[in-house]
Amino acid sequence: MTTTTDTVLQLLAQRASCRNFTTESVDDTLVHHVLDAAVRAPTAFNFQPYSFVVVRDPEQRAGLARIAGGQRHVLAAPVFVVVCADLRRIEDLCEMQDLLISSEHPDALITSVIDASMAGMCATLAAESLGLGSVLVGGIRNNPGAAVELLGLPVGVFALFGLCLGRPAAVSPTPRPRLHTALTVHHERYDTEPRSLPSPPEATGLTSPSGEVADDERAAWRAQIDKGTRSLSRRRAPVWRKPVAEAVLEHPRP
Ligand SMILES: Cc1cc2nc3c(=O)[nH]c(=O)nc-3n(C[C@H](O)[C@H](O)[C@H](O)COP(=O)(O)O)c2cc1C
Repeated sequence: MTTTTDTVLQLLAQRASCRNFTTESVDDTLVHHVLDAAVRAPTAFNFQPYSFVVVRDPEQRAGLARIAGGQRHVLAAPVFVVVCADLRRIEDLCEMQDLLISSEHPDALITSVIDASMAGMCATLAAESLGLGSVLVGGIRNNPGAAVELLGLPVGVFALFGLCLGRPAAVSPTPRPRLHTALTVHHERYDTEPRSLPSPPEATGLTSPSGEVADDERAAWRAQIDKGTRSLSRRRAPVWRKPVAEAVLEHPRP
């Protein structure tokens, strides 16, 4: 017999970001179900310091797709929900008590981002359970000013990510591999020793709900990591890699 817990675990094991959608529309009732589930997420002090902007208009979606660097799925999905951290909610709640929010308090922003992200995850799971495909799009933060203008966001409201919602196209995405828990889970204290990240072709640190991780999945993982790390980092100065001969020529002995 399947219990509720099994169902949630199965849903999580099968979940995968979906980037290919049919043209079928998603009606308001379904979107409401998704957002009703989103707000069931835990939220510090029950503040709910987030807001959702439901975008259906193709022109608005085209604008958001452009901000996200031309991501086609933003336009392909009939609904794009922008999840915002909303510090105005905290301001309003403080005002109810005749209090002013301290602008230096970083926790107001941190709490809003955490809570909005949790709501986003609940929305994702709800969408999946309703047979919808979804993918989070953080690319809308590429140009925060443009997002503010397009969505009419007031001061104190930040677009964190969007959520594409639609009917998955014929081929459902398969769950992507994850790092083995040996790399991510520590017991009692953080263990600084085992840090062997997988490197192709003999990657060992990846795991998948289905068991085996195929070669093409490893390659896709590697390509994605390469792209992501390039966007977040700079190359280390390659001084130490200079050929010895070149270094000697640069500093000839007297
Ligand atoms: C905060 C956040 C931002 C993301 N932004 C994008 C994005 O801009 N475009 C995209 O296609 N996927 C985006 N994703 C989805 C990830 O690429 C995806 O979750 C990851 O590759 C793992 O695949 P899976 O969700 O199918 O397991 C984002 C995910 C998160 C959590």
